[in-house]
Amino acid sequence: MEKTSIQYNIMNMLSSPSLNKRDIVSILKMDTREEMDALQSLAMEVKQERVNRIVYFRGLIEFSNQCRKNCFYCGLRKGNKGVNRFRLSEEEILKAADFAHENRYGSLVLQSGEDQSEDFTDFVCRVVKQIKSRYDLGITLSCGEQSEETYHRFFESGAHRYLLRIETASPDLYEKWHPEDGKHRFVTRLNCLKSLKKIGFQVGSGSMVGVPYQTYEDIAGDILFLRDMRVDMMGIGPFIEHSGTPFYRSEAYSIRQEERLGLTLRMIAILRILLKDVNIASTTAMQVLDKFGREKGLLFGANVIMPNLTPLIHRKDYLLYEDKPCLNEDASQCNNCLEARIASVGETIGYGEWGDPLHFFRRTKTS
Ligand code: 5AD
Ligand code: SF4
Ligand code: FES
Repeated sequence: MEKTSIQYNIMNMLSSPSLNKRDIVSILKMDTREEMDALQSLAMEVKQERVNRIVYFRGLIEFSNQCRKNCFYCGLRKGNKGVNRFRLSEEEILKAADFAHENRYGSLVLQSGEDQSEDFTDFVCRVVKQIKSRYDLGITLSCGEQSEETYHRFFESGAHRYLLRIETASPDLYEKWHPEDGKHRFVTRLNCLKSLKKIGFQVGSGSMVGVPYQTYEDIAGDILFLRDMRVDMMGIGPFIEHSGTPFYRSEAYSIRQEERLGLTLRMIAILRILLKDVNIASTTAMQVLDKFGREKGLLFGANVIMPNLTPLIHRKDYLLYEDKPCLNEDASQCNNCLEARIASVGETIGYGEWGDPLHFFRRTKTS
């Protein structure tokens, strides 16, 4: 298709070896209808060409909300005493895995708060081995910061992907979003990402959009960080307040709530155009700000969706943010809902395939 001048402009900036934060900010600010359309169609062109219009399902099992951290933005923070803490039993997790298998999902994501106990590590390894012995499912873990040895054990058990969002690539901002207690250190997080890559995981990272104190320049920095770290998978989502956290009704916003969805979509599009064959999730948080938020994510370049398989009775106990959707819909209702949503935007679900990020194979071949 003939390119418009806006599209030439975007392509020139994003393909230049001297791409900088200023260029990215100028794209992040493109919020007219015409500019959004231009960005969207460029992202879809790259998506079609490099990863096809296939959406991979990762069945999400939120298996423990016990967390040693106290992030200022998150409803599961240790200081939020209003949370009913739980850990699913092995049987409950295996039942969710059964559902994923029966419904031909390629992969699972096992997510939890951060627990560094020996008991937790043993539990995760046992569960991963059990699932792998039963089914040919790809397994992603998302259990926060752990020692390199623990990450090794996770990998040896059969998990081959790991998600750890950097949250923000700015060390200064990272300090403003977390308490100063030695448990929340930017460099530790960075080192965890490095360990995960070294061990051989397919690594996912990402950030939030619209957290107090954050600016457009910071978000441009996040994009450059994800490029430079060469991560294979990305999860980006708008920040949503939770009343049990210090960031509730903060006065320190520079990015208003109304801007966050559009900005997240532009960020996804930029990542798709820039990084091409990575996997990008269309996150549930987008759906909080717009009924069609996840569909829009797919139409701006995302290619992964995480249907929630957490047993209904525990969904209300896993609120990273408020107004989380699907608190009363079980796995099969969410499955049907998502099938319809994906069909409505003309995409196909990659049933029965792991859907590994092609970027990983390219990265490990050349590095
Ligand atoms: N709004 C949106 N996303 C959040 N997360 C944590 N708290 C919030 C919030 N209030 C995100 C973090 C974390 C991921 C599991 O959820 O980025 O890494
Ligand atoms: Fe714990 Fe993760 Fe929430 Fe931080 S964001 S409080 S590490 S669950
Ligand atoms: Fe859960 Fe729509 S995704 S009901």
